[in-house]
Amino acid sequence: MAIGPADRGQWGSRLGFILAAVGSAVGLGNMWRFPYQMAEAGGAAFLILYIFLMFLIGLPIMLAEFSVGRGAKRSPIAALAHFGGPKWKPLGLLFVVTGFMILAYYGVIAGWVLRYTGAFLVTGVVNDPGGTFEAYATGPWAIGMQIAFMAITIGIVYGGVQKGIERAALVLMPLLFAIVAGLAVYAATLDGAGAGYAYYFQTDFSEILDFGVLTSAAGQAFFSLSLGMGAMLTFASYLKRDDDLPQQSGIIAGADFMVAFVAGLMIFPLIFALGLQDQVGESTVGALFITLPQAFANMGDVAGRIVGFLFFAALLVGALTSAISLLEVVTSTAIDSLGWTRAKATLIMGAGITLIGVPCAISLDFLTLYDEIAGELFLVIGALGIAIFVGWIMPNAEAEAAKGSAFGWSIPPWRMLLKFVVPPVILIVLIYQAISTFNVISGMFGG
Ligand code: TRP
Repeated sequence: MAIGPADRGQWGSRLGFILAAVGSAVGLGNMWRFPYQMAEAGGAAFLILYIFLMFLIGLPIMLAEFSVGRGAKRSPIAALAHFGGPKWKPLGLLFVVTGFMILAYYGVIAGWVLRYTGAFLVTGVVNDPGGTFEAYATGPWAIGMQIAFMAITIGIVYGGVQKGIERAALVLMPLLFAIVAGLAVYAATLDGAGAGYAYYFQTDFSEILDFGVLTSAAGQAFFSLSLGMGAMLTFASYLKRDDDLPQQSGIIAGADFMVAFVAGLMIFPLIFALGLQDQVGESTVGALFITLPQAFANMGDVAGRIVGFLFFAALLVGALTSAISLLEVVTSTAIDSLGWTRAKATLIMGAGITLIGVPCAISLDFLTLYDEIAGELFLVIGALGIAIFVGWIMPNAEAEAAKGSAFGWSIPPWRMLLKFVVPPVILIVLIYQAISTFNVISGMFGG
């Protein structure tokens, strides 16, 4: 590993890399966005559509990011320039800006999760979740919790690839799997769980023929896999030469999907068994921070406290491992492109991201604004960019992806998908997303 700065780091084990990548992928998108979309948009029919799109769009882009990262052994901006020349640097810069902006508001949401986790642990179930959430969401406490969460994230990334990120993933991810699976089993024992499953799986094949459902399923597939902003690219840049990229993409996408699917088996029985089905609303924030805490409160002081604590602890782990990957994109760029040490990069960039996020802890309008621009629109542009880059520009992309792989047969069809299928599908998602971002922003300014 002679390329790049000697101290840029390397994974200690294959499992470490896989769990870190799964940690990036598993987040709030798995815990609510997927289950809710599936329940609302066709149940089992949506499930089939989602799996299909994961193979068609998600896996190809993941393998594209992995190939660029491992091939260049550099952070996004330098990696794109390495294979495509300096005119591709702006795409890398977009990745870094996107990561910076997403983490700015993600830290605020994670701060709420941190406070709920602490509240269930220290004081017990949260009565009046609506009022509680309002008190938690903005103000000095929200800023304090955001800073606390960011400090933990910075501390882990400061430790480096192997001693920080990998070690955290090896401990935290099995914990998350165990909690989500355990709560899903517990939820199955509750009276009335059946109505929750029925809601989750209610099958309607006409839904998935809807264009809007199709684009939101495609969007969810690459949002959930943390694609389109160089997170997977950066993690792959710490790989040794011989790892089987197609195989590992499959494992990571499969694990991400399983967590999302099982999360639905946990959430809906809980909500339905506790009589809150009329509160299953569109808003992720409302569901996670109001409806579910209400369900825990309805369970009673002891059971509700335990289940509530475990649920928010799992959410916290998901948020933390995602935040780590977001910060690592920015950090590794500062190390490679600015020549900073890791210590300087994590501290300065981490502090800068926290600062830019503070407005989101003062007014939720900022949070919505950041999310619409970076978390929705920029991610889609980034995914389109990397697909075109690897499909059409990167020399020897097929050889790089195939290196060390037992799945060589999958490489030519992969490149064809990247060339001809992925870009037009993402372009359609992009048009939908641009319209919705425009509507949200113009609505915010009284338009
Ligand atoms: N995948 C994360 C989730 O499901 C969200 C996310 C999207 C993300 N893009 C990312 C996380 C990039 C880290 C890095 O919640």
